[in-house]
Amino acid sequence: MKLNRHYRSLHGDYLFSEVGRRAAAHAALHPERRLIRLGIGDVTRPLAPAVVSAMERAARELGDAATFRGYGPEQGYPFLRRAIAADYARRGVRLDEDAVFVNDGAKSDLGGILELFDPETTALIADPVYPVYADTNRLLGRPVRFLDATEENGFLPLPEPDAPAGLIYLCSPNNPTGAVYGREGLAAWVGHARKNGSVILFDAAYARFITDPALPSSIYEIPGAEQCAIEFGSFSKAAGFTGVRCGWTVFPDALRTEGVRLADWWRRRQATRTNGVSYVTQRGAEASLSPEGREQTQEAVESYLQNARRISDALRSLSLPHTGGENAPYVWFRCPGGDSWAFFDRLLREAGVIGTPGAGFGRNGQGWFRLSGLGSPADCAEAVDRLRRLHF
Ligand code: MLT
Repeated sequence: MKLNRHYRSLHGDYLFSEVGRRAAAHAALHPERRLIRLGIGDVTRPLAPAVVSAMERAARELGDAATFRGYGPEQGYPFLRRAIAADYARRGVRLDEDAVFVNDGAKSDLGGILELFDPETTALIADPVYPVYADTNRLLGRPVRFLDATEENGFLPLPEPDAPAGLIYLCSPNNPTGAVYGREGLAAWVGHARKNGSVILFDAAYARFITDPALPSSIYEIPGAEQCAIEFGSFSKAAGFTGVRCGWTVFPDALRTEGVRLADWWRRRQATRTNGVSYVTQRGAEASLSPEGREQTQEAVESYLQNARRISDALRSLSLPHTGGENAPYVWFRCPGGDSWAFFDRLLREAGVIGTPGAGFGRNGQGWFRLSGLGSPADCAEAVDRLRRLHF
């Protein structure tokens, strides 16, 4: 009897567990203090009315013998897969609904995807980035190579010509830096992946925050991507589904490795692993993509972007170098003092504001800090006031 020794290679707690632990310890010591939480990128706006009505209707259907449903299709109900494909079509991307696999949020599939690939396959991961990519590889003992994302390259690294074939993780708009790849940058990655037989894992969880029409919101806007990329989407941030849980993964028909259509293996994998996402949830997700739902969720997106802009403006006036906050809900800045966790503690202690230390996203995140615009407008305004009152 032996444990998976790779768990020992994980660095301490999961980032947001450690943030939560320190915040809880502070709150226990200062119960009178109102803490402002701009750490984990959790949403604060309620579900859109169109989503709530659809979920209520769906729950009533399940409560009636004539319309009751049991197990649903593992891949997701056709009505939702169709609505997701139609959403891509509105953005100029043609996608077959059969390529769409509904899930309980991007995080599950971002980890699960590794089951399709040989354990020796190298993962190429930007540093800093969402810690789930590196941790899911580490805990399976897979080889990981990091690619420097720095201020010099605008936190948007490009391919190194001699990189070995493998999995390439791209996250755009980026978590945590808020940087967004333009068409040229993504085209360089697609060209590279096709040339050396790599598969791109494109995390588009923040796609709805892109306001600049020149920026691609899906990797499939780049010709040839359907032959080398899997895309992960999410209802979490734009539709407020962080608690409801729903997302999707796209496996285009043309995507093949060693002659295998990856969509076929993923379908087989899903049939083995999951009985899908609840009907009520999928009806809610579908409603978020209806004309009414899109209008209502767009309001939420705009309010979060407004928060992020407010944070960027404050950082500018404090002369703190920063990125993000334009086409992404996160603002990423160089923290005074140069140590991310020390700044986290100081911000918590002196301002009662919880952020996320950049060091938690990788080595290059040391000395940087992330604030989330997904809080309420009142909280963001208050956090900005408290930040301005700190003496740097
Ligand atoms: C974050 O704060 O980075 C995200 O909320 C994490 C997630 O989406 O799982």
